[in-house]
Amino acid sequence: MLRVELRDVGKRFGSTLALDGADLEIEAGEIHALLGENGAGKTTLVRTLYGLVRPDRGEIRLDGRETRIDSPAHALSQGIGLVHQHAVLAPALTVAENLALGEKDSLWLPPARLAQRARTLLEAYDLALDPETPAGELPVAHQQRLGIVRALARGARLLILDEPTAVLAPSEVDSLLELLVRLRGEGRTVVFISHKLEEVTAVCDRVTVLRKGRTVATRPVAGLDPRELGRWMVGVDPPPPGEPPGGEVGSVALRAVGLQAGLLRGVDLTVGEGEIFAVAGIDGNGQAPLEEVFAGIRSLEAGKIEVLRSPLALIPGDRQRTGLVLGLAAEENLILVEAARGGSEPLFRWGLLRRSRLRESVRETFSRFDVQGEPAQPAATLSGGNQQRLLLARALRERPAVLVAINPTRGLDLAATGFIREELRRAARSGTAVLLVSTDLDEVLELGNRIAVLFRGRLYPVEAGRRTRERIGELMLGQVG
Ligand SMILES: Nc1ncnc2c1ncn2[C@@H]1O[C@H](COP(=O)(O)OP(=O)(O)OP(=O)(O)O)[C@@H](O)[C@H]1O
Ligand SMILES: [Mg+2]
Repeated sequence: MLRVELRDVGKRFGSTLALDGADLEIEAGEIHALLGENGAGKTTLVRTLYGLVRPDRGEIRLDGRETRIDSPAHALSQGIGLVHQHAVLAPALTVAENLALGEKDSLWLPPARLAQRARTLLEAYDLALDPETPAGELPVAHQQRLGIVRALARGARLLILDEPTAVLAPSEVDSLLELLVRLRGEGRTVVFISHKLEEVTAVCDRVTVLRKGRTVATRPVAGLDPRELGRWMVGVDPPPPGEPPGGEVGSVALRAVGLQAGLLRGVDLTVGEGEIFAVAGIDGNGQAPLEEVFAGIRSLEAGKIEVLRSPLALIPGDRQRTGLVLGLAAEENLILVEAARGGSEPLFRWGLLRRSRLRESVRETFSRFDVQGEPAQPAATLSGGNQQRLLLARALRERPAVLVAINPTRGLDLAATGFIREELRRAARSGTAVLLVSTDLDEVLELGNRIAVLFRGRLYPVEAGRRTRERIGELMLGQVG
């Protein structure tokens, strides 16, 4: 049976050190959990094992023999399969065709034979699917199961699942966990990435915790203290230096009461003028609906948002998808919000944009926020850091009384990160009420006057006097008491 060792794996993407000497040791026949904060390097690590990421350094040993894995096909030939969270595959092809994909010659089988083969495979794994259905039309849980069956059909003895349960309903999670146990019973090995403690303790034999690209610990799950797991995940270093903004907190500028939308299960919060209220937590605990209700693109199922001071500005969490219109010029993106409100003097007159004024005003903003690029350049062609500065500039140009910022420094280098954090502090000092939602714990500790943790759609305030990584780590894993 396959035994896997990764040693001292390093991988850099541009300015991001994704893996910084990570180790992973998988015993044959175990279910091995991989745990760590957002950005810890879990996905990158398993992708090196599946030939999707070429590490800068380190070694991979399969059954004791050093190996280089340079493609998924190669990984599969070694018995390693990886199933993505959204497991498909070829959405336009049928279930049967998907199962045949990648197998030599089998796509040339007559359709009836193909369907028959598919049925046998599906039955073996309790998956009652019509082989003729296009895979893209299946519910996500079935797509995922199909991805697993396909990997098994192609000979995977070690199956890697990257956050498979994040997209599943609770009953589907149970059935997936049962499948993992069954695979272990068949002598297969599973690497299971999850942020959910009870899934790890329910079925996993051992767990490896990654933090900032390094392996912190590998331990048997039995008898493990969840608090210790939390400490490994977030570390116990003192909070980073850098003053959380001080000063007077003025009257309430933003209030949310009993917000329910999607995952949100009744979120209450207030943000005062001049303070940064920071919401920590692992992605998938309600961050997306929280952003969407503040962006006004999702309606509340219950509760209300009171914006007591205006204007409110937003820095969306995904600069490419929701932040910018990539095909529009940088300068057009800068004034999108103003334009949407109808436009006012001096940039607009009679509802029309005055291009000459725009250029002038944009140059000023670019230099104030240090955006490197040409105003007329399509936003798509700016670097990530400059796209993010553009979003910051757009939000702060209006001198907002309330600013909602979602992961404002995700994926940025140190210089851009420092710049943006300082601007958020500066906005707060000048009286803006800032609601910061961030999966970056350092950021939350550095900026938040008050901190709360979003866990499963509820907000848990970090008690004054317990503002430590340790406490926040506990709350992030749901250790509320
Ligand atoms: N292709 C890439 N290009 C640039 N940066 C990347 C790339 N892939 C990953 N990163 C960065 O590497 C770091 C580690 O990312 P990775 O996806 O491995 O984390 P993760 O532990 O899987 O996090 P999550 O729990 O959010 O899935 C992050 O800072 C991420 O932004
Ligand atoms: Mg990941």
